[in-house]
Amino acid sequence: MGKVEIIATSTFGLEAVVAREVRQLGYENVAVENGKVTFTADKLAICRVNLWLRTAERIRLKIGEFKATTFDELFEKTQALPWAEWIPEDAQFPVEGKSVKSKLFSVPDCQAIVKKAVVESMKKSYRKMWFDETGPMFKIEVALHKDIATLTIDTTGAGLHKRGYRRLISGAPLKETMAAAMIQLSFWNPDRPLHDPFCGSGTIPIEAALIGRNIAPGMNREFASEEWPSIPKKLWQEARRETHDLADYDRPLAITGTDIDGDIIMVANENAEEAMVEDAVRFKRLPVGSFTSDAKYGCIICNPPYGERLGEKQEVEQLYKVMGRTFSALDTWSYYILTSYPEFEKFFGREADRNRKLYNGNLKTYYYQYYGPRPPRSE
Ligand SMILES: C[S@@+](CC[C@H](N)C(=O)[O-])C[C@H]1O[C@@H](n2cnc3c(N)ncnc32)[C@H](O)[C@@H]1O
Repeated sequence: MGKVEIIATSTFGLEAVVAREVRQLGYENVAVENGKVTFTADKLAICRVNLWLRTAERIRLKIGEFKATTFDELFEKTQALPWAEWIPEDAQFPVEGKSVKSKLFSVPDCQAIVKKAVVESMKKSYRKMWFDETGPMFKIEVALHKDIATLTIDTTGAGLHKRGYRRLISGAPLKETMAAAMIQLSFWNPDRPLHDPFCGSGTIPIEAALIGRNIAPGMNREFASEEWPSIPKKLWQEARRETHDLADYDRPLAITGTDIDGDIIMVANENAEEAMVEDAVRFKRLPVGSFTSDAKYGCIICNPPYGERLGEKQEVEQLYKVMGRTFSALDTWSYYILTSYPEFEKFFGREADRNRKLYNGNLKTYYYQYYGPRPPRSE
């Protein structure tokens, strides 16, 4: 089977986590750049990475890359790429674009030129003059960076964070991809308890249950490239069968979530049901200060309120003090906290063992990590 070049796009700060996931799926020679992870594999990989990657934003197929400093160059080199190998004659193929530090900075012009070049290329391949664009979707992207144009087609459709289980959300929900990354950046493993004391709509506990049971996050959704004739249906069937074979639906897990808001707990329960992990997670209403546990070596993973709105500063400072007192009573536990609040550690009362800058949407946040003792091996 021929090789293809695949780009998994990532939120800034999570590239290494995405790369680790790609390697765990068995792909090598993974190149990591700002916001993306590139690797070469067979066509089956397009299906597998869409189904399995928990922290990537979307999966793009790279059609070509070249230097372009004039519109003529962009047109000629785009036209020379093998578009018809992927795009059938009835396909819809809109073009999106972006340009950073490049001579060709007008994105609408670049998009229009690429569209025209792809049409010209397809006219030659299909020997026809007009394309109705009524069939499957092939979203093309032209990304210019320092005069290098990268031409890709999106294989994913709705972003990979859309797992299909979260019909209902809280006021400030965490993206599923970010929740999965927070878990993967922690020392939690399925043998340890996990608790989210600010669980909101349940994203962190649900993502942990999916990880703990090895359930592929994309199992219950569809992808744009499932409709592509250029990817044989049997590859999608094979990849979907693998997700069923590898899922461990009966694995016992000790995952809990609490929140002060009783209504949001109902939402969390409904989302867990949609994700089919309702037997793996327990949610209940509880203010953070009342959380205690007899369990040992657990992990708290959470994103508390950040105090973004005016007048909330004192409230969150008080809340962080309560968190500091409550968590320090759990002497064998580790805790991991994501917040954009600049003085979090001061109010929490302890400097983190490690922190990491992460972007939650456009918001710069820090992921504060406090390591407890390692669990003994036998446990
Ligand atoms: C940023 S949201 C968390 C969102 C959640 N990760 C999700 O994906 O939906 C913060 C949550 O903290 C809860 N909260 C605020 N004060 C609290 C307190 N004192 N104890 C427990 N929960 C609290 C809010 O109700 C809200 O659901």
